[in-house]
Amino acid sequence: MDTTPDTAGGAARAAETGHARDFASVFDTPVTGRWSAPGRANLIGEHTDYNDGFVFPFAIDRRTVVTVGVRDDRLLRVASTFDESVHEISLDELDPARMDGWSAYVFGIAWALSIAPTHAASPSFAAAGGDLSTIDLSSVPGLDLFVTSDVPIGAGLSSSAALECSVAVAMTELWGLDVNRAALAAVGQLSENEAVGAPTGIMDQSASLLGQADSAVFLDCRSLDADVVDLGFDAAGLEILVVDTHVEHAHATGGYVERRTSCERGAEALGVSSLRDLDVDDLARAAEVLDDETFRRVRHVVTENQRVLDTVRTLRTEGAVAIGALLDASHVSMRDDFEISVPELDLAVSTAQAAGAVGARMTGGGFGGSAIALVRSADRDAVASAVTAAFAEAGFTAPTVFTVHPAEGARRDA
Ligand code: GLA
Repeated sequence: MDTTPDTAGGAARAAETGHARDFASVFDTPVTGRWSAPGRANLIGEHTDYNDGFVFPFAIDRRTVVTVGVRDDRLLRVASTFDESVHEISLDELDPARMDGWSAYVFGIAWALSIAPTHAASPSFAAAGGDLSTIDLSSVPGLDLFVTSDVPIGAGLSSSAALECSVAVAMTELWGLDVNRAALAAVGQLSENEAVGAPTGIMDQSASLLGQADSAVFLDCRSLDADVVDLGFDAAGLEILVVDTHVEHAHATGGYVERRTSCERGAEALGVSSLRDLDVDDLARAAEVLDDETFRRVRHVVTENQRVLDTVRTLRTEGAVAIGALLDASHVSMRDDFEISVPELDLAVSTAQAAGAVGARMTGGGFGGSAIALVRSADRDAVASAVTAAFAEAGFTAPTVFTVHPAEGARRDA
């Protein structure tokens, strides 16, 4: 979830003072290295991750970059272009109760790594593999970290996962921890759930850590088996347009928790451990057992899981142009059954479709954020203009419309 503050404030202040805030202007330690991790867009598979289901997100070419220096004490200090402060915590006092604001995304990773040995048997950690049981932070050095980012905040493109994952790859490398990427995604999720307090699934961190250029990550959120699937967008002359509606609903977190609870209630009433255990053939029985609202929530998750499987199969057999109808159907399901869309997202989707998009849907947690449209490169500008015009006509805040390319996941840059 996107709860980090806007990066624009810090950047604007730096511009006013004529001095760009950077690592050297804040810290005295020498720079040891630079790591980065991308935001993500989800091609399809929404609200399926915490139901043990399937997702198909990709890393985008917008990244969070963390420059790091190793200290000779046990302090973690973090600064950024987001605000004027330097936040700090001791590695000997890592505790989610002492973390708040955007620095919780950073300190939370250290905390989650520190408790990983006691969590090693939890289902996601066990499925992720990797030897989390041997992690020991008792003698690792403190770090100075400086964060910059061009992942838009509050747009539903996982600026939070980009921050967590850039920090996670830096910390594991500098502290010599042998943690594979799947396990690191589980560490990121634990941090977001407990240190930040957002009860999200494992999709965003997995996309940010496992993404590859022109590919998406087909992830089974139960086994955590991940398959990097070639999207073939470049060869097919296709692009993904993002429409950031700038709608941020105050009840987004509440709505997310409520949907999650409905899914758990539905699974319990149907006698399964998670909705992953149901398929489309089970829906007739579900309609008899569940109240109308819970049934529609369940139907979204069950049909969305099937759409992910169908999308991956269709991509492999028929190519990317053939997945459009599945993207469209996913949006209808989120709008009508899961009820997480908003008028701005619906307008972005219907306008993009009418202007020639191959397919379109809202992406991410919902209640605002962004829609994506799969478009032929030749139609990109016409689709973007049509969406902008439709928003003006409807009296909505002007959206930001831009192209994203499926990109490489977290890495060391220097
Ligand atoms: C947010 C969460 C993810 C996932 C999506 C919905 O982005 O962080 O874990 O649940 O919503 O698919």
